[in-house]
Amino acid sequence: LAACSSGGSAAAPAKIGPSSPLVGRAEAARRKAGAPVRQVELTAQAGELDLGHVQVKTWSFGQLPGQEIRLKRGEVLRAKVTNRLPQPTTIHWHGLALRNDMDGVPDLTQPAIPAGKDFTYEFAAPEAGTFWFHPHVGTQLDRGLYGPLVIEDPADGRDYDTELVVVLDDWIDGTGTDPDAVLANLKQNGMVMGGGQSSSMPDMPGMGSGSATPPMSGMGGMPQSAALGGDAGDVTYPYFLANGARSVAPTSLRAKPGQRIRLRLINAAADTAFRVGVPGVPMRITHTDGFPATAPGNAAAVLLGMGERVDALITVPSSGVPILALAEGKGGYAQVLVHAGGSTASAANDAAAEQLKTAKVLTTADFSAAQQVALKDKTPDVTHDLKLTGPGAKYDWTINGKPYNPNDGLPVRQGQRVRLRFVNDSDMYHPMHLHGHTFQVRTPKAAGPRKDTVLVLPRRTVEVDFDADNPGQWLTHCHNIYHGEAGMMTVVSYV
Ligand code: C2O
Ligand code: CU
Repeated sequence: LAACSSGGSAAAPAKIGPSSPLVGRAEAARRKAGAPVRQVELTAQAGELDLGHVQVKTWSFGQLPGQEIRLKRGEVLRAKVTNRLPQPTTIHWHGLALRNDMDGVPDLTQPAIPAGKDFTYEFAAPEAGTFWFHPHVGTQLDRGLYGPLVIEDPADGRDYDTELVVVLDDWIDGTGTDPDAVLANLKQNGMVMGGGQSSSMPDMPGMGSGSATPPMSGMGGMPQSAALGGDAGDVTYPYFLANGARSVAPTSLRAKPGQRIRLRLINAAADTAFRVGVPGVPMRITHTDGFPATAPGNAAAVLLGMGERVDALITVPSSGVPILALAEGKGGYAQVLVHAGGSTASAANDAAAEQLKTAKVLTTADFSAAQQVALKDKTPDVTHDLKLTGPGAKYDWTINGKPYNPNDGLPVRQGQRVRLRFVNDSDMYHPMHLHGHTFQVRTPKAAGPRKDTVLVLPRRTVEVDFDADNPGQWLTHCHNIYHGEAGMMTVVSYV
């Protein structure tokens, strides 16, 4: 089964838990004396939201997405979280290599915040980038409890005029179906509910079939088939949201023609991967999961798995443009408009969405880490295999055949170079996320991208390397919330 070179099934070594002095020491090394403290308050609450001509009763941080948190690298975030939900909750700061006791995983790094109580998170922001936050309890995230977290780099050259944060989501419906009911239904039927159409789409045009791929410089070669195979998600969603609104987000940006916009794209969906593109306008990828990255040429579209982020630069054309996000294998889409000068951008239509489907799409394998964030070449000290299987008879998703057990895990030691080998033994997408670290994905390129979440496509294997430099107990799991909740989680355990 798991090839674990630290081997041995003898007495389990003592774990370095969230309250270990090593955790405080790692934080002290990150936290500069006199670092400014940024205070924010978040209230998780039930309420009504307007998704754009659809009223929903749900849970959120008061708006959708939750209020953006923005700070500078090195600053300290102090976030008071008040729980007005009828059940316990936590906040996880997705993508940050923060102190283990602030990571927000119930029972592993902290007791969940009881209903009616509050808890204050405090940690130094270690790296600049595009991140986000959400509870780490059950399917709460899929009700609308999420928000963007942007950490600016004071040393950033800023080769753009303005930025636009785009948070993507899938939404079950407005009639009161909640994610817990969806999960219960999946478990009861042991499988996919009501569809989850295959993305090995029958309408997929073949290579060079005359599909209207926008002309792009620096791309070269034939337009590649855009089929990725397998199923992206299990749940059929009627709505897809960009910045909290279905179809066209009213939170449009007004820019000037020729201006450069930094897009910060965040996929907060529970069960949907998005193919994001800007019709007729090439995107230049600059960051993957917050870390500087490069990609060959200009991209027509980029694939964004659940939990993943990409930053890209675009130049505003005189007519304005939609930022279009197509739900992979599901057919719907959402968009945010960028208006230009006096002219109002027109929304993309089905034809544009169809074009995006067949455009060359960049995936993780196309990205490279920028030189300054590439890991030093090193042979791993330990390799852990994670075989991703499911769904079982009761919609069980497992890692190495086992459901989640917070007391079990993959041992690592501080200072080790660790390799995780995600082996997707199923027909579905698994966006695998590691807490507390940013790994480097091994790709055919010299240096694969730095990421904290990597989409492992059906029947594929993806290897990632990281340096064990942040002591504690760290979850690694599928960011399809339904897979994670159904068991596809384990712990990278410092011992
Ligand atoms: Cu964004 Cu463990 O999650
Ligand atoms: Cu999964």
